[in-house]
Amino acid sequence: MNRLKQAISEKGVVISDGVLKVDSFLNHQIDPALTLEIGKEFAERFKNQEITKILTLESSGIAPSLTTALELGVPVIFSRKKKSLTLSSNLLTAKVYSYTKDETNEITVSKDFIVEGDKVLIIDDFLANGEAALGLTSLVKQANATVVGIGIVIEKSFQPGRDKLEQAGFHVESLARISSLKNKKVGFIEEMVA
Ligand code: G4P
Ligand code: NA
Ligand code: NA
Repeated sequence: MNRLKQAISEKGVVISDGVLKVDSFLNHQIDPALTLEIGKEFAERFKNQEITKILTLESSGIAPSLTTALELGVPVIFSRKKKSLTLSSNLLTAKVYSYTKDETNEITVSKDFIVEGDKVLIIDDFLANGEAALGLTSLVKQANATVVGIGIVIEKSFQPGRDKLEQAGFHVESLARISSLKNKKVGFIEEMVA
């Protein structure tokens, strides 16, 4: 997706060989026009899948999920990382290990909102090691619902996440695929336009 790649090139800051900072349009300040285009692109890529729900993880997955959901006409559910005061029973839970933080967190979703028969599109802002996305797929499976695909805004293709998700049988669509962050430079995987 060209406009996204342009934003990454112009506004992204390479923090290290492994980390890209995109706080000016995705992870802190949010660019609404770009996020709207991201939603349209995800909706186009997954349009024939009879999606009934979008599932994401708070917080940075919510904005691109919302714009995609508007296009597809379905609700968004965001999984929580912290226990909620009003949400304490009737939960689906999964453990997610974070390599960057070296800690395991429990993510939760109410059983009221992902139900048997749902066809779920999972969306997240970054794909690194794939642990967050795998945790989300586990929540869907526990509800006897189906994951129809995983949409990622920025994939770090030099990390193992995509391979892990594909080996687990999931269809992954990433709008920007980064091949390298070496020498403070963002390299993209060039993709054929179908
Ligand atoms: P994993 O799910 O792929 O295994 O990733 P990991 O636990 O290592 O990621 C922890 C957090 O860091 C996640 O956000 C993830 O989106 C983010 N992240 C991973 N790599 C990068 C990167 O190169 N750049 C940026 N900007 N973020 C990255 P989170 O803690 O869930 O935060 P948020 O969703 O509230 O923003
Ligand atoms: Na993030
Ligand atoms: Na995230």
